[in-house]
Amino acid sequence: MASNRNLLVLPGDGIGPEVMNEVRKIIAWMGRKRAVGFDIKEDVVGGAALDKHGVPLSDDAMKTALEADAVLFGSVGGPKWDNVEFNKKPERGLLRLRKEMDLFANLRPAKVFDALIDASSLKPEIVKGLDIMIIRELTGGVYFGEPRGVTTLANGEREAIDTQRYKTSEIRRVCAVAFELARKRKNRVCSSEKANVMHTGVLWREEATKLHKEKYSDVKLEHMYADALAMQLLRSPGQFDVIVTDNLFGDILSDEASMLTGSLGMLPSASLGAPDATGRRKALYEPIHGSAPDIAGKGLANPLAETLSYAMMLRYSFDLSKEADLVETAVENVLKAGYRTADLLAGGKTPDVKKVGTQEMGDAIVKELDRLA
Ligand code: IPM
Ligand code: MN
Repeated sequence: MASNRNLLVLPGDGIGPEVMNEVRKIIAWMGRKRAVGFDIKEDVVGGAALDKHGVPLSDDAMKTALEADAVLFGSVGGPKWDNVEFNKKPERGLLRLRKEMDLFANLRPAKVFDALIDASSLKPEIVKGLDIMIIRELTGGVYFGEPRGVTTLANGEREAIDTQRYKTSEIRRVCAVAFELARKRKNRVCSSEKANVMHTGVLWREEATKLHKEKYSDVKLEHMYADALAMQLLRSPGQFDVIVTDNLFGDILSDEASMLTGSLGMLPSASLGAPDATGRRKALYEPIHGSAPDIAGKGLANPLAETLSYAMMLRYSFDLSKEADLVETAVENVLKAGYRTADLLAGGKTPDVKKVGTQEMGDAIVKELDRLA
């Protein structure tokens, strides 16, 4: 269906193409039943792009991404490309997208579905109703800081360098996103760094505090060292609403938070740039899980994180919150009805589960959408 919504689909490697295929069914359903159409372009990224073009992201695909209203991304990487040189690693394709689209705010919700409470490794009473939003800074810090590289010293020994750097403006813009989001939630922000050992941590804490005083004093702000936060996430995760932190801590803490919800296979994410004059933000949506080469091609992957990433896209890029709600409700209902991909089977604790593969899960979502609409 023709539309003025331009979408770039980048399925990538491993289970990426499989889970994307299930989302295509939902995209088609939305076009058919809700007149929500997209002009879709598709391209390769990661190992697939390396095989085709010799680079993990072609300039052409980069240009299409910059022009699109949103990018829907699968996953990249796999053992096939383990030995390629550093600057051509499949992951560089994703990092280039984040950097050149200037997607500095990565929203990673960790929400526990009631039906999955037994899949969590924590006790049900600790994770019930859990709803945390981690905002990870995504274009700075040690992921991109210069100088970086490996050199050989005079004595023949090798030395590797990565650099953590943050500027005031980089800290302020991502903290602003956290404060704004908190206002629409439980109005609490926990800012996390290691100000006890890192200069970037000291600056982060000072700038977060300053911005809070200037513009967001109605929001409750606390600071927590990242190691303490890792511990608190397991001890009593319910204390958190919005967490804001740097690129590397955010990478690690969001993986940890995802396991509270039962599976990495459930969690979506949105990576957003700054709004332009028309209020439009560049955006990329991707599941938190990786390419899972061990189960790729076997029809076992859970398509729900990609499905929920698509729902986030409807909400944040196209202002289609009714449609986003519809998709999220369909996911919830299908879980309630007992549908489980392999990653969600909690040692058979849940009664009446229906073990399903990737395609059956996708079909169940579409069927549920039909029933809801
Ligand atoms: C993530 C991933 C990426 C990261 C990799 C694939 C580059 O782990 O999105 O969390 O480290 O940021
Ligand atoms: Mn990660």
